[in-house]
Order: sequence, then structure tokens, then C-alpha cells
Amino acid sequence: MSQVPLNPPSTFPTPNDLKDLQGELGFPKRVENFIFFTIQDPAGFKHALKQLQPLITSTAEVQEARKHIQEFKMRNSEGLMKFVGTNIAFSAVGLKKLGVTESLGDVDFENGQRKDAHNLGDTFITDSSGQSVPDWLPAFKSGVDGVILIGGDSLPSIFEQKNKVEHILGNTIHEALVVEGQARPGKEKGHEHFGYLDNISLPGIKNLTKIFPGQQIVDPGVLVVGQDGDKLKSSRPAWAKNGSFVAYRHLNQLVPEFNKFVNDNPIVLPGLGRPEGSALLGSRMFGRWKSAGAPIEITPLKDDPALGTDDQRNNNFVFDESAGQTRCPFSAHIRKTNPRNDLSQEFVAPHQMMRQGIPFGPEVTFGEETLGKTGPGINRGLAFVCYQSALDDGFSFVQHSWANNVKFPPKEDGNNQQLLIGFDPIIGANGGDPSGRTVNGIIPTPLTLPIEWVVSKGGEYFFSPPISALSGKLAA
Ligand code: HEM
Repeated sequence: MSQVPLNPPSTFPTPNDLKDLQGELGFPKRVENFIFFTIQDPAGFKHALKQLQPLITSTAEVQEARKHIQEFKMRNSEGLMKFVGTNIAFSAVGLKKLGVTESLGDVDFENGQRKDAHNLGDTFITDSSGQSVPDWLPAFKSGVDGVILIGGDSLPSIFEQKNKVEHILGNTIHEALVVEGQARPGKEKGHEHFGYLDNISLPGIKNLTKIFPGQQIVDPGVLVVGQDGDKLKSSRPAWAKNGSFVAYRHLNQLVPEFNKFVNDNPIVLPGLGRPEGSALLGSRMFGRWKSAGAPIEITPLKDDPALGTDDQRNNNFVFDESAGQTRCPFSAHIRKTNPRNDLSQEFVAPHQMMRQGIPFGPEVTFGEETLGKTGPGINRGLAFVCYQSALDDGFSFVQHSWANNVKFPPKEDGNNQQLLIGFDPIIGANGGDPSGRTVNGIIPTPLTLPIEWVVSKGGEYFFSPPISALSGKLAA
């Protein structure tokens, strides 16, 4: 992909930026706890925050840890180096409780995710008092003030850290919900619950992250508040510089149901057996093959695991205009959420976000797989997390204006008529409309998807402040 023109030379990141910026834009983690909390005693909390600050992991520390992990891997063929990282972020309500009165300039953040639920296509239900409410987890319906993210190599590492954090914060908070994320076992490590390898295509930040061929390179301010490329750089409060807005989404995945649909509807092509036809259907919904994430734009009909695992090639592609949808459908998840050369680069770059999700919940059982149905009371899915400097360009925009927009990406047929693309088959949402979702271009005829296999259970928008604010602006 061609490089996006960058603003005049940026000094980012200075050593101070790296110490100030929380590190979760790239924690190495196998296990992660998300502690969603409400603040019970604001004065006590502000005091405790100062003591918590030394436990908060900076980007400089993450960079250092990554180096050590690399060295450890070279010396040891087995085992994981101990690592734990801790970050904290606040909702708009949480910041108000801490006495922040000025606006950070992000309307979605100020309003909170619950106000955005319709816009995001979430399903609403009628509660016992007759009110229409999003079908969310109770903690997100009633609202949380913040989240503490603890990620690391193992459960013991993060429990040890969680105990330290809880000891410092004590009764100043109430833990409304703890989400336990965990990488999937064995060869499924790095794969989300539908089985596809995740986190292959992430934006590269100049001077901060290693850049791979084809990667979209963005100005730091697309992700980090107050840096070059932040559209509100000049009007942000000074204390917020080096913060980032976080979208957390608790996304349940109906895996046996998804697998049943894919198995029941193989794409029929000469020379393609039934399992290969099903694999092709799944890969056309995602835009990448399941086994190792090889892009179908490069290898449209046959998986190529070696290409998938090759970080010099697995992201090095643009969509071939002349191929129409024969290689990658316009509605494929990766094309809906990052249309690359379907739009001009100046337009695509501001909508990049740093995804840092992790799966939660158990593996699918043999019984569930056989029945094609998620077992009663079983919750599995993706603790979706992403960072950006503007939610109305990042997560909220991408979900609403791209994934849920049946006319996106804008394409015309031979008669200059706008094509109906349909939903993103993976995350496109229409409020649970029982008539299902229609997707075009995956197979030659419109494909009606009977249910949403990704079910939003809500979340919140947070601001991950710079570390300096934890002993300054937000502390007592
Ligand atoms: C359970 C829900 C989801 C699943 C199973 C899922 C799965 C995947 C997979 C397998 C990939 C390909 C690997 C990669 O390129 O990193 C991917 C890419 C991506 N996803 Fe998702 N995803 C989910 C939710 C979301 C949401 C909510 C958004 C944003 C609204 C999103 C945005 C993206 C983006 C931007 C990419 C990279 C596309 C590219 O640059 O080529 N995903 N996702």
C-alpha cells in the first residue's frame, strides 16, 4: 500500500512521550483481565491514584520488555518470560467524578457508548419497566467509571498484579465487572473464536512501531491525542496530550452457529470438494483464509499458510480494481473495515485504529459443534479493544458508516448505478432485525445471513490518560 503523506517532520516520540504514553497500544499478553469499576469515594480514589501510578506500564517499558522477551525466546525453546502490564482508562462520567470539567473534544466519548448503541446497530429489548434498552451486560447498561487492564504472560502473573492494584484502590472503587481474556490454546493462539488469525493488519506509527510491507502508516496523532495528525491537536487540554480514546466492546460470538452455516453452504466450484467450498465461503466473508490469515486478494481460491505467516507478504496488497469481486468481495470484513485503495489514502488514514482485543470464554465443546448451537449459559467471544484519537473517525465511524452501511464501499455497476454491497458479514449489525442481513458479492447471488453471529453485549468509551495525569491533573 502506498505511504500516506505525513505532516511536516514530527518529533514524536520523544523519550518523555514514551514514558508518558500508556503501553497498552501493544502489550505482549497471553492473558488479560479487564476490571470495570465505578468510583465510590472520589477523594480517596484521587489519593490512591498517585500510589497506583508506579504500577502503570508505559510504552517505554513495553518496548524494553519486548526486547527482553525476544532475547528470552532466542535462549529458550519453551516457556514464557514473566511479564505483566497495567493500564487504566476513564469514562466521561468517571473523569467528571475526578473533577475534570473541561471537554476533551470527543462527542462520542462525552456521551458514552450507551447513547451510541442505536448508531452502532446494537439490539434493543424491552425491560421489565417497559423501556427499550440495549441488550447489554448490566454493568454497561448502568455505566462504569473506568477500566483497569492487566495483561501478561500467565494467570498467576496477572493475579499477583490484580491483588496489588486492589490493595491500593481498596474501597474507593466497586468492581462492576471483571472480564477474563485469554489467548486460545495450542495452535489456535492468536486466532479469534471463529478460528481466524487476528491482529495481522494494524496501522504502523512512524518512529514508534516496526513497519511491515504494505502496512498503513499513520501520523501518531491518528491514535494519540495532542500529537501531529490529531485533528483537534490545537484545542486539546494540555494535560491530555499523549492520551488515547479507547473503545471497549464485549462481543459474544456464536461459534457453533457460524460453523454450521459455513458447513451447510459450501461454495460450489468445479474441482472443489465440500470442505474446501465451506473454507472458501468463510474466507470470502473475512477476506483472509482461516489457517494463517493469507489474504484472498493474493490467493483467492486456495489457502496458502506460508503466505499467511510471512509478515513481509501477508499485508502487502491492495485491491485489484479490475478484478471486481472475483478476488476479494467488497463486503469482506477486512475490506469493509479498511478499504485500502478503494478510497483515497487521505480519506482512509484518519479511520485507522489500533486493535488490541483478546478472546474470552471457553473452547467450543464437541456437543455444541454437533448441535450447531452455543450451549446454554455459555459466553464466548472477543473482548474488542481499540485505540484512536477520535471515536467519530475510529471505532464508532467504522462500525456505523462502513460495516453497517449496505452501500459501502461506494462502487458502481457498468451502468453507473451504485452497487448494493450489503453488511459486513462478520460485524455488520442491524439491531437484530429478524429478516436477517443480506450480503452481496460473497457468492454470485445475494446471501442472506440468518442471524448475527457477533452479538454486542455493550461496552464503554474511555480515555486512557497520559501517565503524568495520574499524579497530576487526576490525582489529589
Ligand atoms: C468478534 C468480532 C470480530 C472478529 C471475529 C474479527 C476478526 C477479524 C479478523 C480475523 C481479521 C483479519 C486479521 C487482521 O487483519 O488483523 C480482522 C481484521 C480487522 N478487523 Fe475485525 N473482528 C471483529 C470485530 C471487529 C470490529 C468491531 C472492528 C471495528 C469496528 C474490526 C475492525 C477490523 C479491522 C480494521 C481489521 C483490519 C483490516 C485490514 O487492515 O486489512 N473488527 N478482524
